[in-house]
Amino acid sequence: MLTQELLLETLKSVKYPGYSRDIVSFGIVKNAAASNGAASVLIELTSANPEVAAQLKQACEQALRALPEVKLVHVEVKMPAGPGATPAGQNAFANQNKVPGLARIIAVASGKGGVGKSTCSVNLACSLQHLGARVGLLDCDIYGPSIPLMMGIKQRPTLSPDQKMIPPSNHGVKLMSMGFLLDGDQPVIWRGPMITKTIQQFFHSVDWGQLDYLLVDLPPGTGDAQLSLCQTVPLDGGVIVTTPQEASLGVVRKGIAMFEKVNVPILGIIENMSYFATPTGERVEIFGHGGGRAEAERQHMTFLGEIPLFTEIRLGGDQGQPVVVTGPHTPPGQAFLRIAEALHQKMG
Ligand SMILES: Nc1ncnc2c1ncn2[C@@H]1O[C@H](COP(=O)(O)OP(=O)(O)OP(=O)(O)O)[C@@H](O)[C@H]1O
Ligand SMILES: [Mg+2]
Repeated sequence: MLTQELLLETLKSVKYPGYSRDIVSFGIVKNAAASNGAASVLIELTSANPEVAAQLKQACEQALRALPEVKLVHVEVKMPAGPGATPAGQNAFANQNKVPGLARIIAVASGKGGVGKSTCSVNLACSLQHLGARVGLLDCDIYGPSIPLMMGIKQRPTLSPDQKMIPPSNHGVKLMSMGFLLDGDQPVIWRGPMITKTIQQFFHSVDWGQLDYLLVDLPPGTGDAQLSLCQTVPLDGGVIVTTPQEASLGVVRKGIAMFEKVNVPILGIIENMSYFATPTGERVEIFGHGGGRAEAERQHMTFLGEIPLFTEIRLGGDQGQPVVVTGPHTPPGQAFLRIAEALHQKMG
């Protein structure tokens, strides 16, 4: 049975950041309510420290989620108004964990696998670099990190004198990947806390330098892992990749809902594998066409553009030579560059 006592008992395992005392004995847990498997907690801070608020929120959510009786968790952390307080109506998450040096962090996600998310992440990163921005890529795909191959990067990160990881780079883009931390083809069973810890390291133990954009390739799907990633990663916005057919669009809505749940603004939708252009210029709409734009309109979201099926895109990925790098003026290169421009414009 989920009771208030159980919630409070559980919250006693959460320490106030920087202190050995727990938050319950500190007296900042103002409300804890349980009903039907849902846990709702209100915490009131006495000082306006967004970083502490974010850490506490996350720690409480993690502790409560570990209870088998809990199906839904809502933790609200209130800060007093004043200097440093989050202005009303602003996404508190976006500011709380700001990583110095990283101007914008954008996640690339999809509702389902194999729609070309990683291909888009790689080519958009190289496109933004082509447009003059300083760009990094973070491959958070825990199941099958494919970005090192697509970027043609074989070397692993090195360590700086102050023990930070220096990301390897190619095509002018810095890269960190779950793949660098895994050994060979060993399957890895990731547990929630391990994922969260690794992601945190990707932000705080990596020497990214100054970047205009960090693109994050999320694993496919909209499960708990994705949600917790979105909560751990201080995102400025999300881009959703879909294929045109309705089957994929049904899951797009899940992708959108996932970002909305964690208050991450959706920057737009990309339709990948939009159509196949034959060498004679004929257009074959293998998966139908226009579903991405229609869905964007329905959801009042920006349609960022479409990427046709091109053999060069797949080859570029397999050879570690993204098509935007080898052929920025070819039709596939242009398709990615136009989307990168739209994104850049949107981010200001
Ligand atoms: N527009 C395209 N034209 C041709 N091939 C493409 C295109 N987009 C993606 N591909 C190819 O489709 C395959 C799947 O793409 P990708 O790995 O980027 O998908 P994903 O959504 O990241 O998959 P996963 O869910 O497994 O992470 C790759 O071989 C890629 O080269
Ligand atoms: Mg992928």
